[in-house]
Amino acid sequence: MRSSSGVAALGTVLASLLYLVQGATLGGSQNVEKVTFPPDFMFGVSTAAFQIEGGWNADGKGESMWDTYLHKHPEYTPDRSNGDVAADSYHKYKEDIEMIKELNVQYYRFSLSWPRILPHGTDNYINKAGAAYYRTLIEELKMANITPVVTLFHWDLPTPLMDLGGWSNRKMVDYFVDYARVAFDLYGDIVKIWTTMNEPHQHCYNGYGTNYFVPALESYGVGDYLCAHYMLLAHAEAYRLYNSEYKPHQQGNVGITLDAFWGEPKNSLNPDDVEAAERYTQMHLGLYAHPIFSKEGDYPDLVRQRIDRLSSLQNFTRSRLPSFTKEEILKLRGSADFFGINHYTTFLMSSSSMEKTWKVPSMDHDTGVKLEQNPNWSKPGADWFTVYPPGFRKLFNWIKREYGEKIPIIVTENGMCDFGGREDYRRIDYHNQYLYQMWLAIYEDDCNVIGYFAWTLMDDFEWTDGYTVKFGLYEVDFNSPERTRTKKLSAVNYSNIARTKQIDFGYFKRNFTENGLNNII
Ligand code: NOJ
Repeated sequence: MRSSSGVAALGTVLASLLYLVQGATLGGSQNVEKVTFPPDFMFGVSTAAFQIEGGWNADGKGESMWDTYLHKHPEYTPDRSNGDVAADSYHKYKEDIEMIKELNVQYYRFSLSWPRILPHGTDNYINKAGAAYYRTLIEELKMANITPVVTLFHWDLPTPLMDLGGWSNRKMVDYFVDYARVAFDLYGDIVKIWTTMNEPHQHCYNGYGTNYFVPALESYGVGDYLCAHYMLLAHAEAYRLYNSEYKPHQQGNVGITLDAFWGEPKNSLNPDDVEAAERYTQMHLGLYAHPIFSKEGDYPDLVRQRIDRLSSLQNFTRSRLPSFTKEEILKLRGSADFFGINHYTTFLMSSSSMEKTWKVPSMDHDTGVKLEQNPNWSKPGADWFTVYPPGFRKLFNWIKREYGEKIPIIVTENGMCDFGGREDYRRIDYHNQYLYQMWLAIYEDDCNVIGYFAWTLMDDFEWTDGYTVKFGLYEVDFNSPERTRTKKLSAVNYSNIARTKQIDFGYFKRNFTENGLNNII
C-alpha cells in the first residue's frame, strides 16, 4: 500500500454526510469526508476538435469524413445536426481558456483537426491559418499556466484519405506519420505531452465494423481488424519518429489513449461468466494494449487464436486479423510513455455463441459475449451509459495485472452524460464517486495512476447522439448564435477538486446549498 500521508481524515465515518446535496445520494461505499491526491497529480479537462470547434470550412480548412458524411446524411443524428458550428471554439477559444482557468486544472487535452492543418490529408500543403489557430491556442494556454496535452487523431479523418479507404488502407500509416511530423515541427517546441490516437477501438469497431459511427462501413469482422492493425502500426511509427528525431531536443512524451468499458461477470460465481468478462476485455482493450504494453508484444494469444480459428471455420484462407512481422512487433512493444485510458461505464457480461443482432463474421461473434446493463444502476443520459463507480477501480487493477505497475496511467477521459441542466448534482456525484474509486486504486491497490481528465469542458457534438445528450461541465446554448457558455454546478465542484487536489464530499452542501445556488451559476 502506498504511503497515506496525503490522506486527510481517512477513516472518519460521516454518516451525516452520506448525501451530497438535495437528495442526490452517494452511489459507492465511500465513508470518508475528504481524500487527497498526490501533490503532483495531474488534473485536467478534455475536448476534441470535431466536437467543439465548428468553423468546418473556415480559413481554408479541408473536410473531414464527419463533415462529408453528416452533410450527406442529416438523418444520422436524432436532431439532424452536424459539426458545422458546434460550440464554435474556432472563434471562441479565448472564452474556453477562461473556463479552463476557472476550473483550476493544470492541463487541457484537446485534439488537432488533421484537415484544418492539412486540407488534403497529405503534407504537401499546410493551411497556414489552420496551423496558426492551434499555435495561438497553445501559446495562450501556456500564458495561462495550463499545460497542453495534444491528441493527433480524434476521429476526424480528412475526407480525401477516407476516399482511399481510411484506416483499412495500409498507406494510412505513412500519411499519419507525415501528419505527425508536421505537428511535431509546428508545435513540438511548446507541446510536451502527445497522444497519437483516441480510442482506436471505438473508432474501428463502430466505424469500420458497424454503422454506428462514421464512416459506417459495416465491414463486420474484417474492416474493424484492418483499422485496428494499421492504427496500431501508425501509432508505433509516430512514436518511433518522435523518439529518434524530436525527443532528443524537444524532451516530450508520447502515449496513446485506449478505452474500455468494465466487464462485470453477470454471475460472479459462474466460471463461464467470469471467463466471458475476461474474454471481452482481452478482445477489446487487450487487442490494442497488448502489442504496446505487454512484455511479449503482439496481439494477445486468446484474441489471435479465436479469430484465426473462426476465420478458418468460415472458409477464409487467411485470418481476418492481420499479423505483425517480427520487426513490427518490436516496433510496437514499448511504444508509449504512458497509458491513456478513457472509461465511462460498466456492462454485465455472460458467454454466448450467438445473439440475434450479431452478424457472422463480426467482432461481436468473434468475442462471443453478451452485454447487458444492470437495471439497478442509474442511467442518467445516453442509452449505453449506466453508473457503476467500482468498475473504474477494477479496470485499473486489470491494467496493472496485465501490463505491470511501471507504466504510468493517465485517465484521458471520464465523465457523465445527461439531458442537460445546470443543477447537475448527479454529475457531481459521478465525479466524486469515480474519483474516489480511482483514489482507492492508487492508495489501496498501488495502481500507477498519475492523472485524470474530466470529459468534457462544455456541452458538445456527441457523435451519433448529436446535441441531444450533454457531457459538459459548462452548458452551451446551441440555439444562440453566440453559443453562450454557462457554468454548471459540476464545474464548481470539479474546480474545487482540481484546486485542492482533494475530493471533499461535503463541499457542496457546506458552501452552497444552504445559501442558495443563484450566486454561483
Ligand atoms: C469517448 C470519446 O473519445 C469522446 O469523443 C466522446 O464524446 C466520449 N467518449 C463520450 O461518448
